Amino acid sequence: MLLTNLKAATMQDGYGLIEDAAILIEDGRIAWIGPRAEAPPGHEATGCEGRLATPGLIDCHTHLVYGGSRAHEFEQRLTGVSYAEIAKAGGGIASTVRATRSQSEADLAASALKRLDALLAEGVTTIEIKSGYGLDRDTEMKILKVARELSQWRPVDVVTSYLGAHALPPEFKENRAGYLDLICTEVLPAVAKANLADAVDAFCEGIAFSVEETRRVFDVAKSLGLPVKLHAEQLSNLGGSKMAAECGALSVDHIEYLDQEGVDAIARSGTVAVLLPGAFYYLREKQAPPVVALRQAGVPLAVATDLNPGTSPVHSILTAMNMACVLFGLTPEEALRGVTVNAALALGLKDRGVLAPGMKADIALWNAERPGDLAYPLGFNLLAAVIHNGEIVRGML
Ligand code: NIG
Ligand code: FE
Repeated sequence: MLLTNLKAATMQDGYGLIEDAAILIEDGRIAWIGPRAEAPPGHEATGCEGRLATPGLIDCHTHLVYGGSRAHEFEQRLTGVSYAEIAKAGGGIASTVRATRSQSEADLAASALKRLDALLAEGVTTIEIKSGYGLDRDTEMKILKVARELSQWRPVDVVTSYLGAHALPPEFKENRAGYLDLICTEVLPAVAKANLADAVDAFCEGIAFSVEETRRVFDVAKSLGLPVKLHAEQLSNLGGSKMAAECGALSVDHIEYLDQEGVDAIARSGTVAVLLPGAFYYLREKQAPPVVALRQAGVPLAVATDLNPGTSPVHSILTAMNMACVLFGLTPEEALRGVTVNAALALGLKDRGVLAPGMKADIALWNAERPGDLAYPLGFNLLAAVIHNGEIVRGML
């Protein structure tokens, strides 16, 4: 397939824009990309009506598979009860854990597919999905299995993370060390053995796990050959990001309260900063992540929905991009890099996120004049078509 008459935002060096581009796709990969005038001969051209091509979008941080609803907590928070207060009273993550434990794989898959469809309608071709709403071995494995299987039902690549250290389960309420033992000696090894997780995540926070507890989980992850990432510095500055950087983490996520020492640490380790403006928005937080310092330090910035029932029921990656601009001060270019090249980096994926020869042919085509148009509107979907693994899976060319 030779695509012609398109503008290509290759995302190599800024937008890496090619005004009048052509893309040759062979065997699910990009075989050639460049100015149309230089396209290799002998291929029948498919015109794209001047549309904008970007890499398929990558949502690098979601909690897509869960049971139940937390709409009542949204209402509670609007009357002034805080996220932490709700969590301490047995709501929050624990409430989703109860609902998720009681659901079958089929029920979890059915609700996850509806949420996934909302993301796919905006050009997402790769999604990361975390566990963390089961906490016990069987439910964590159930969530990860459902997450992996979603790619059998939809044209999307799923990357999974085991987030056992998300909250203390009720059965371990008086026994933190016991729960960490369970993670480190039973669940994590079982998850790794079944090849259900591509990485290990944790929630390092006053209402969740300490830096030392998190490090213990990371040490086991590394001994099993799994990369790590961390929910860090979301509500306070515990120094989790610094520890994660020392462990060579792929990413640190949220990081509203990250200080300069933390910025320097993740800059040194090449860790990606994943910004999650949806959670910031829903929790009506006041402290934005240190974007200027991150930029100055050359830290790659990614942007994700953090799709979850509690703090970020955001089912739109374009909205997350817009929020990253309006709430955190990213440029539209940074926002688009945040859901393409830098999102791929955050997942440790080297075969996507840019349009270049040899890369996976995951391409989104947009009814847009300029790549900056993607982060600009709210609630207006510019997507025209999607190519996944070289196949047209949405829209027509
Ligand atoms: O990314 N921060 C921790 N975990 C999720 C929220 C989970 C929940 O409240 O259900 C997050 O914001
Ligand atoms: Fe999250």
